[in-house]
Amino acid sequence: MKVLVLGGGGREHALVWKLRRSPRITQLFCAPGNGGIGEDAQCLAVDLKSIDSMTALAARLRPDLTVVGPELPLTLGVVDEFTRRGWPIFGPTQAAAQLESSKSFAKEFLQRHRIPTAPFAICDSIEQVRTALGHFHPPVVVKADGLAAGKGVVIAKSKEEAAGVAAEMLSGKMLGEAGARVVLEECLKGDELSFLVFSDGERVVPLVAAQDHKRVGDGDTGPNTGGMGAYSTPDIIDDQMRGWLVHHIAQPVVAGMKAEGTEFKGMLYCGLMMTVRGPMVLEFNCRFGDPETQPILMRLESDLVEAIEASIEGRVSEGDFKWSVDAAVCVVMASGGYPGTYAVGKRIDGLEDAGAVEGVKVFHAGTAKRDGVYYTAGGRVLGVTARAGSLETAVARAYQACGKISFEGAHYRKDIAARAMKK
Ligand code: AMP
Ligand code: GLY
Repeated sequence: MKVLVLGGGGREHALVWKLRRSPRITQLFCAPGNGGIGEDAQCLAVDLKSIDSMTALAARLRPDLTVVGPELPLTLGVVDEFTRRGWPIFGPTQAAAQLESSKSFAKEFLQRHRIPTAPFAICDSIEQVRTALGHFHPPVVVKADGLAAGKGVVIAKSKEEAAGVAAEMLSGKMLGEAGARVVLEECLKGDELSFLVFSDGERVVPLVAAQDHKRVGDGDTGPNTGGMGAYSTPDIIDDQMRGWLVHHIAQPVVAGMKAEGTEFKGMLYCGLMMTVRGPMVLEFNCRFGDPETQPILMRLESDLVEAIEASIEGRVSEGDFKWSVDAAVCVVMASGGYPGTYAVGKRIDGLEDAGAVEGVKVFHAGTAKRDGVYYTAGGRVLGVTARAGSLETAVARAYQACGKISFEGAHYRKDIAARAMKK
């Protein structure tokens, strides 16, 4: 079969790398792809901001299946359009993708369905923010309502700071339209968990869980990013917790969406905080996580195509997934300045040596290839991912590989999975 992957980041490289291993696939395309993806799939130009562009590409290729990586095409309604034309595609409709594209939609949905989440207030003006702040104790979390690539969340230490950030967001200066509405939230404490489930609109089947590292700096310091590294192990949560998360969070979300006429099919990413009061939802994403997908797919032993088809056709089951008992970890190497402004076009050296480290796969995110040489082309550049029988060995392998790679301004966290190893 012919498969098209939309996107061009580290997550899409991992998807393509895994799909390539399916005996069912004869032709694999990725649009726009990136420097590294070109080794596993044929990369083609596309504008992910344009439904017309994606439709024109698919009309030309006629893939048997399209897999959508990033949130933007989903939010614009690519699934609605392809489905209307009878083209198989994996992901939720535009209406269902609101779980990610609007934080106020997600919070009100959670409240309606009594699914645990932090107390919150939705504000459209600075006056509303000032009034609402009366009900919060600092630190206060200030979130832009719309999509902001993981950068629309600020944890303010004081009410004054919260009001200042909210004012910036509301003015449109900070994040444009995405900040025209803000959500204030109580700040939760605990370990974060990325709990992803395949949904066929009715049933859910969880993937192995992972933990992301959102802050740019070691020890969870500095601003939030799209994610600086992630790991997944067999014992990150036990079976009892996994069952609880399915029955009290993932399943009620999917049932609630169906009951409200916005059936959710595709990948539901539940971003959770494991608090002393129990797990609470921080956010939803309507797609695979980046960088969580890199270690998660390294642990998947069964065929990803089968699972995706089962989800589209309304028949997902636990039997579709076989997982390795190995641990896997991904360390993101980023451009100097990321998550702020950064330069691109820096030559990347050492990729071959890094890829030769046992158990390591270097997934490309923001890279471009010219005349056989790789250059940086984005904020998150590489996802250096390693698999091993223990988390300690996987981490050691990933950092050994990172040490072999160099490009001007490169930075990465040195403490990915460190907290898990201490436990
Ligand atoms: P979100 O885009 O809503 O997931 O937020 C991005 C990140 O901000 C999360 O992964 C957390 O690290 C942090 N965050 C979001 N909401 C809260 C909260 N209520 N309390 C503490 N941290 C939060
Ligand atoms: N790693 C967080 C995300 O995919 O949104």
